[in-house]
Amino acid sequence: MMCEAGRDSLPLPRPHPLLLSVTARYQQAPGVHMDHFLYRGGRLHAEDVDLDAIVAGVGTPVYVYSTATLLRHFRLFDEALAPLPHLVCFAVKALSNVAVLRVLAQAGAGMDVVSGGEYLRARAAGVPGERIVFSGVAKTEDEMALALQGGIRHFNVESAPEIEMLSAVAMRTGREAAVSLRVNPDVDAHTHAKIATGRKGDKFGIPVAFAPRVAARVAHLPGLRLAGVDVHIGSQLTELAPFEAAFTRLAALVGELRAQGHAIESVNLGGGLGIPYARANEAPPLPVDYGALVRRTVGHLGCEVIIEPGRLIAGNAGVLLSRVVRAKQGEDRDFLILDAGMNDLIRPAMYDAFHDIVPLREPPAGAPVRPFDVVGPVCESGDTFARARDLPFLAADDLVAFRSAGAYGAVMASEYNSRPLVPEVLVHGDQFAVIRARPSYDEMIARDSLPPWLQA
Ligand code: LLP
Repeated sequence: MMCEAGRDSLPLPRPHPLLLSVTARYQQAPGVHMDHFLYRGGRLHAEDVDLDAIVAGVGTPVYVYSTATLLRHFRLFDEALAPLPHLVCFAVKALSNVAVLRVLAQAGAGMDVVSGGEYLRARAAGVPGERIVFSGVAKTEDEMALALQGGIRHFNVESAPEIEMLSAVAMRTGREAAVSLRVNPDVDAHTHAKIATGRKGDKFGIPVAFAPRVAARVAHLPGLRLAGVDVHIGSQLTELAPFEAAFTRLAALVGELRAQGHAIESVNLGGGLGIPYARANEAPPLPVDYGALVRRTVGHLGCEVIIEPGRLIAGNAGVLLSRVVRAKQGEDRDFLILDAGMNDLIRPAMYDAFHDIVPLREPPAGAPVRPFDVVGPVCESGDTFARARDLPFLAADDLVAFRSAGAYGAVMASEYNSRPLVPEVLVHGDQFAVIRARPSYDEMIARDSLPPWLQA
């Protein structure tokens, strides 16, 4: 089965069919994608914490993360790469709360950051600079200087002009910048078009054919050291073949660059391994399969291997809890109106993403289900989480959980419709703590200010 309690003393509860979001392959691979959100005594728990208790203390909507699941998923990658010198850099963009980053940092994770803000979050979580890599197409001089002065393992550089700027900033700050050339391998990741990043029409990376010329420029410019090469072809990949094509191209490039006299020490393979969101999902490959592919394609290079997974570590480690405000009959359908909206979880509106929705109160076995359109309070029809989703009977004040909401959930939340930013809670065993409080209306409004000419 997909879920287990994660500790020997706990009874293994019977998973409700609505909770099962993985296919047979995952069920045969215990330890993988298991999470710690389970029904116990008829109520959904995060580890040993009854989610009702969190709702009572914090209200809804609220994100809840499981420490044990975060650590389990980090370790799966760490173990899958164990035979090689490696560093697993969590993609901070997936879930950037400093408490979550600290959990992973204490387990030995590095961080992949894409902005000055993410860099400072990683540092605030206690991650040393030598375990941070800096990605992104639009790094500014200020961000480069911040990372160079604070300490950084390398920059994943995405263009020739970026290299000129980095050299200038390195000279100005007196710190050498290690460069990893991110190349665009022109590989279709077979994922949602909005999150595919390795096709030649995408804004990311340096065309592979240009890489030798750019590498020569790096070697020539002062303040820079060519340390490695890098590729990231997209997110929520559910097959290994695109990774294989990209990693193979990267390995060939390492050979080419070495033949030109460059000492290439590291290969950064990006992130992208997908997770199962829906019960009907084709099960994505497992980290252990991914690890075998990495060894097969780049293991012979003698390089340090860096990976940047985000979703697979955080996705199934988080749920979004919401309360039913009311049910409403439409002419041809029933709506379930929640107090969580697209501003709290934008993935369904933005990528047509599927998230399992389960009641906090376990429905009796064999309870009838009926189709609901599950919607939020925001004044757009796009504020729809699911259409014709079969759910057990739910009514006003009932509580539900969106599963697999840990990655790209809270980080993409906004205050659209002046709905205060959704809070976050971290669970650890039988303890929980608010790790980002819900702002009051006053706090939200006090961030605005009136210009002098409007104050009278
Ligand atoms: N490295 C780089 C350079 C990236 O751009 C990304 C994600 C990652 C690593 C982590 O990828 P992951 O392992 O999480 O797939 N908001 C979208 C996902 C955007 C991903 C952006 N880049 C979503 O909700 O599906």
